Amino acid sequence: MIAVARNQEQTPSLLPERVPRHIGIIMDGNGRWAKARGLPRAEGHRQGTENLRRIIKACVEFGVEILTIYAFSTENWRRPPLEVRLLLNILETVIDRELQELHDNGVQIRHIGRTEKLAPALLRKIHDACEYTKDNRRLILNVAFNYGGRDEIIHAVREIVKAGVPADDITEDMLNQYMYTSGLPDPDLIIRTSGEIRASNFLIWQAAYAEYYFTPTYWPDFDREQLLEALWEYSRRTRRFGKTDEQVKPGEG
Ligand code: FPP
Repeated sequence: MIAVARNQEQTPSLLPERVPRHIGIIMDGNGRWAKARGLPRAEGHRQGTENLRRIIKACVEFGVEILTIYAFSTENWRRPPLEVRLLLNILETVIDRELQELHDNGVQIRHIGRTEKLAPALLRKIHDACEYTKDNRRLILNVAFNYGGRDEIIHAVREIVKAGVPADDITEDMLNQYMYTSGLPDPDLIIRTSGEIRASNFLIWQAAYAEYYFTPTYWPDFDREQLLEALWEYSRRTRRFGKTDEQVKPGEG
């Protein structure tokens, strides 16, 4: 059975039957996209932000339940100060400009990552955006901002120790509860654009059984059709979760 994804602006495209519930995206290649066109890096980030709008819409349209985007990593503080400022400003601008439309589209915004080092005004804005959209159910948008996977694990372990949990009581389920993604299913599919083939500290705990999809396309050019292509590739993979091929029914996963 094949469902049809409809979009007002574009011709219908075929959507695979098995769509991942949770997609993570490493939106890479804004700088190289700009460089290839003789433009400043800031323009690459601007186009990358525009593209994010399109991809969020496509995820809503395709029935994806959770989208986690890697917007600013704990390592991104090492970039030149001007670019760090630009990236911090982008989130503020996106919230100012897009919040109402995201809300109208049923998007629930969540922040995952450290709050330390972020300016109080930005934190307030993030907090207000999360509060404003908290009852929306069409798509959960996790914005990984000031986020690092190892940092998240350390944070979880510290919280468990602070809670006085005996060592023998510590389980995978418990660690899940202490992650920023507590209560959400693990990502099924992680997409990375720009030809880099590594995880770069993104959801390293949660993505233990995720399928990875790498594409050479730079983020600003990764469009709806290419997302569909990634979904098709995902639908063809058999997820075994440690079992044998014979144990897994076709289409399961
Ligand atoms: C990677 O490009 C992208 C980032 C570091 C994050 C920027 C993301 C956006 C602008 C999308 C929207 C952001 C928010 C906050 C909602 P790069 O600079 O690493 O590219 P390069 O590897 O080609 O230099």
